[in-house]
Amino acid sequence: MHYDVEAVRRQFPILSGGICYLDSAATSQKPNIVLRAMDTFYTSQNANINRGVHALAEAATVAFEDARKTVQRFLGAKHAHEIIFTRNATEAINLVAKTFGRSLAQKDRIALTLLEHHSNIVPWLQLKEEKNITIDWIGLETDGSLNESSIADVLSKKPKLLAITGVSNVLGTKIPLKEIIKKAHANGTLVLVDAAQMAAHEKIDVQDLDCDFLAFSGHKVYGPTGIGVLYGKEKLLNDLPTFLGGGDMIQTVTTDGFTAAELPRKFEAGTPAIAEAVGLKSAIEWIDSLGIAAIAEHEEHLLAHALEKLQTIKEVKVLGPKDAKKIASCISFTVDGIHPHDLTQILSEKGVYLRAGHHCTQPLHNHLGVVATSRISVAAYNTIEEIDRFATEISHAISAWKK
Ligand SMILES: Cc1ncc(COP(=O)(O)O)c(C=O)c1O
Repeated sequence: MHYDVEAVRRQFPILSGGICYLDSAATSQKPNIVLRAMDTFYTSQNANINRGVHALAEAATVAFEDARKTVQRFLGAKHAHEIIFTRNATEAINLVAKTFGRSLAQKDRIALTLLEHHSNIVPWLQLKEEKNITIDWIGLETDGSLNESSIADVLSKKPKLLAITGVSNVLGTKIPLKEIIKKAHANGTLVLVDAAQMAAHEKIDVQDLDCDFLAFSGHKVYGPTGIGVLYGKEKLLNDLPTFLGGGDMIQTVTTDGFTAAELPRKFEAGTPAIAEAVGLKSAIEWIDSLGIAAIAEHEEHLLAHALEKLQTIKEVKVLGPKDAKKIASCISFTVDGIHPHDLTQILSEKGVYLRAGHHCTQPLHNHLGVVATSRISVAAYNTIEEIDRFATEISHAISAWKK
């Protein structure tokens, strides 16, 4: 079927002013339908969930739980109660680090890869500080893919958990998760997938992947900020101790102690992001209406075109795989003689928005031997013309900088 990108663009009010938004890996733009769903919730259904018995509270609770069922379907989870709403992917990963981590002892190990975002590094480094555990790092090939012998070496040390990204937020590298999860399980290692850069670009099926935990953020999948998701296998979530304490996550409280609520409320203390859950549901339905495979195919064309264009500019060095089939979401690069921050500012003045810096991946940047990079990232609404405009502006910036 023909992918009508102009029809997609018309659904995003922020794009109507002619900006060239190539920063969707940081946060995606939101279609009208998501904005309207949240507006409708606030204008006709707003009430706090769970605690009320009046009609509005019931309607809000149903809307919130419907959102959970939509996420369950989106991820292919077996049960709706395996979906825990958090603030974002960062909080979802912290939830696991701070609950699963409580049972770890000094002899235990956690495995990470050099591709990880700080959100999937710092919670484990905090655990290292607290428990004196060891962290083992899976290394990279020169093109940014994971080094096979390093995977085998790290897993042979039988870490308690491997926390791994599905797609690199810098190099765009797509990770062969299923294969790695199988190897990890063979070593008795649980796997947490950081799907923050994956969820908008690839069909996820947690049962097929057989991952133990998976985290993503609503705001990177055309939904609102303030809501994220942790998926966990039922048994594992049941076995974990509680995370944040407060209303809603308890069954009983006495002056001596408390008993935890059943899943999923056990991990959802306090008033959750109700309107945001409604927005996330709408965003997932919006993705489904286009089909994630169709979006991914469109984005692959954009990335292939960007790789081609960038490689014709001699001052540009693309980091990571040069094959669009091996990447999703983004491409990072450096430009000889121009600092990424300067480049991004110059392009911003032309209405072309990309990102510069370490992209919350200092260990990866250290490994690559660069302090900062420029990154473009694509989404369902980007066009080939925008990639051309971006490449032209890069060439202009280089010429102007040299003068
Ligand atoms: C790979 C990856 N993991 C985790 C995160 C954290 O997402 P959030 O800031 O929404 O929690 C990001 C954000 O850019 C990311 O790219």
